[in-house]
Amino acid sequence: MCGIVGYIGHQSAAPILIKGLHQLEYRGYDSAGIALSGKEQQAFHLFKAKGKVSNLEAKVSSVDSAESASLTTGIGHTRWATHGEPSETNAHPHLSMSGELALVHNGIIENYQLLKEQLSGYGYQFKSQTDTEVLVQLIDYFYQKNGKQLMKAVSQALNKAIGAYAIVVMEQSNPNHLVAARKASPLVIGIGKDNEEFFLGSDATPLVEYTHKVIYLDDEQIADIQPGTAVTITNLDESLANVNIKDVDIDISALSKGGFPHFMQKEIFEQPHCIENSMRGRVIQREDGLYEIKLSALTNFKAKLIRARHVIIVACGTSWHAGLIGKQLIEEMCRIRVEVEYASEFRYRNPVIEKDDVVIAISQSGETADTLAAIQLAKSEGALVFGIVNGVGSSIARAADTGIYIHVGPEIGVASTKAFTGQITVLTMLALALGNALGTISEEKFQNICSQLTTIPEKMEMVLKQNDKIEQLSERFTYAKNFLYLGRGYNYPVALEGALKLKEISYIHAEGYPAAEMKHGPIALVDKEMPIVTIATHDELYHKIISNMQEVQSRNGSILAIITEGDDEVKRMVSEYVEIPSIHSCLVPLLSVLPMQLLAYHVAVKKGLNVDMPRNLAKSVTVE
Ligand code: F6R
Repeated sequence: MCGIVGYIGHQSAAPILIKGLHQLEYRGYDSAGIALSGKEQQAFHLFKAKGKVSNLEAKVSSVDSAESASLTTGIGHTRWATHGEPSETNAHPHLSMSGELALVHNGIIENYQLLKEQLSGYGYQFKSQTDTEVLVQLIDYFYQKNGKQLMKAVSQALNKAIGAYAIVVMEQSNPNHLVAARKASPLVIGIGKDNEEFFLGSDATPLVEYTHKVIYLDDEQIADIQPGTAVTITNLDESLANVNIKDVDIDISALSKGGFPHFMQKEIFEQPHCIENSMRGRVIQREDGLYEIKLSALTNFKAKLIRARHVIIVACGTSWHAGLIGKQLIEEMCRIRVEVEYASEFRYRNPVIEKDDVVIAISQSGETADTLAAIQLAKSEGALVFGIVNGVGSSIARAADTGIYIHVGPEIGVASTKAFTGQITVLTMLALALGNALGTISEEKFQNICSQLTTIPEKMEMVLKQNDKIEQLSERFTYAKNFLYLGRGYNYPVALEGALKLKEISYIHAEGYPAAEMKHGPIALVDKEMPIVTIATHDELYHKIISNMQEVQSRNGSILAIITEGDDEVKRMVSEYVEIPSIHSCLVPLLSVLPMQLLAYHVAVKKGLNVDMPRNLAKSVTVE
């Protein structure tokens, strides 16, 4: 949520910042800005634009190239509004009233009203409605008071601020100096050759083109960055902190659309390959033909995981839907009681957590503020925290005691697709491996599911081949005002996910329901105008869902059915269907979700909407 970039070194900063902002635009896109500096005591060059980064880029291109080459320090921001409407005035960077400091900020300063009143009392005036402007004035207050020592001023200000922040500050008097800090909002510093230049980002994606050596700032740490010198880091109490330099490796091709019109479509089509990556080195066929699952997280924490009598899954959004599937997998294969909680509710609800509990936190970004807070709560109660995360080196990956990366590569489209199937794959491997260790799954069932799991990539390809058919089907749904998605058992969370995908990118209201719940209320909505997407694949509940479909049809509801290949019974019942290959019921979500993703995608494209950057949303929700 909101993207930060920064550069300090010998190159022209503007092109590096603009490129970085484009790469981070998925985190927020209602306005953007950069501040540049090069010569001591010269006023900052400030550019801001409402809307997309391309609007900002057009403004920045007016700078004369000789001048641009001399502006070798800069900070930039792409915004997802929290305080104040999207506008140039509210866009970052914000300058202090003295004009001596410029700041970009992600997060929320919760006590900003109180601080604003205090600063007003000292004569500070404010132009914007943002909490960020209050923070830069607060830093300025201490800066002026303490002989313009920026590091000290930042730590004094942050000691007064309550809330979450990732910030980068630059000072007019010294263009060779940046100060960065974080609390509950990520910030990464990339180190250039011989410390001659540094790159900053709210995640590593804009940095990897220039360097693989990075520092992930920890909470309440402040970094002092000056070219030619190694970064020094202090804690909020001004004591020195250790500097841990890590290697980061991101496939740069994942950051481009690779010939697809949208990241979302590319990411949908990448799924067979992503699932192979998720399973690589983990689902292993031995020479005798039998399968085993190797998860280092399980080996290292086996005793604690086996002892767990209670698992709590915490997550938000799509990851929460994956958690609902995880519950069924773990209960079926491990016979352990599992609860699935919205992280945002769990963190404030005084939940019962016991020392032998295992809390599984699921997150694509690894930066979701509520999930991170839920982890902290679980840890404070002594539970083992197990992360299922995509963002390598992310805050959640680092906060968890152990865990498994899903390894599906950067997900850029705001609507999550490949992360969902990656999360389910990891949950399946975890449930299988744990069930095997506990002896709660028979060897025959274990071998059967493992072997079917390895066929998922090729079966996904078969489903994706129906893209054209789904595109045609989507045509008539663009006019719908409401959708109902129905599923049962393992397909109930898929119905929730299908509805969420459609809502997010097509702005059509949609609800997911367990199919049998329909007659307890939602059936009142059914008429011939309302499309009802029903997942009716061959499993234990097949005949039950056929009855639910008949209930819909007797009320003139129009059904789009997701069925098992060759199911003539349903084909005779409905005029519109998409077939998926037959697979063990616990693996069906990995296939049945694909038509849902494609349907949402095509409906949104046909409505002329921006599927990668839907209105009001942002990737990586780093505010609560
Ligand atoms: C839906 C979507 C969101 C995220 C949610 C959690 O398409 O992207 O609902 O799933 O914000 O995000 P992560 O998984 O990054 O914790």
